[in-house]
Amino acid sequence: MAAFETISYERDELGVAQLTLNRPDKLNAVNLQMRDELWSALRAYRDDPDARALVVRGAGSAFSAGADISEFGTAPSYVEARRARRERDLWGLVLHLPKPLIAAVHGHALGAGCELSLLCDLRLAADDARFGLPEVSLGYIPSAGGTQTLPRTIAPGVAMHLILTGDPVDANEAYRLGLVHRVVPRDRLDDEADAWARALAVRDPLALAYAKEAVVRGLDLSSREGLSLETRLAALLLARRR
Ligand code: COA
Repeated sequence: MAAFETISYERDELGVAQLTLNRPDKLNAVNLQMRDELWSALRAYRDDPDARALVVRGAGSAFSAGADISEFGTAPSYVEARRARRERDLWGLVLHLPKPLIAAVHGHALGAGCELSLLCDLRLAADDARFGLPEVSLGYIPSAGGTQTLPRTIAPGVAMHLILTGDPVDANEAYRLGLVHRVVPRDRLDDEADAWARALAVRDPLALAYAKEAVVRGLDLSSREGLSLETRLAALLLARRR
């Protein structure tokens, strides 16, 4: 794999992969290069049979302060920007990865940073984490999935409030809202995230993949269709044992 400049990606012998957003001097703002590199690294994670669980974190003082605002309006054209998005649906790739992702969040997780964490399956927050979707206050809307993932993660009315106001919430409030699964002291974040990842890495990969598929696809289905999907996936797992 080509060396990355805006992120780092590695995988250990236990099957735990680490993806670090690595533009600390810009609070890991997501620029076009980072999007390209995330696309490559996440596909490498997906396609590596020995990679079992992934931790996403940010280098420096923040997880990510969101899309790189210095690149706003710099796409060659609106049509071009739309075509690039269609061909490379980075956020769709993350949402539908058949392997677990854990976001280990500290400092600012704003805009696309917050949204990236929402696309992960588990969110662990340091006590200094701060989550927010400021896009509307910038005359824009969340576009890394936030308008869909946030109301599917916390109460839809609360999601609407956070999206319309852009007001950030601290780690304890994020926990109270169900936005994160646990809050730990900042100096425990990395070890705790690694422990979660190691625990998932020893689980049956196909059971993890089907459980994710049942939950993620099921959220778009009626309960009758969702139950039928669950039955089909459970039968496939049982059939392996015969
Ligand atoms: N895009 C591009 N650069 C960003 C950025 C972003 N979203 N967020 C922070 N940076 C850069 C700053 O420009 C600054 O770069 P510089 O040192 O070259 O001037 C560096 O990161 C540090 O940021 P700074 O603002 O000095 O840190 P702070 O601790 O005072 O404030 C924030 C932190 C997050 C409150 C502030 O950076 C901010 O509001 N960022 C924009 C957040 C945002 O609106 N994101 C959503 C975009 S849709």
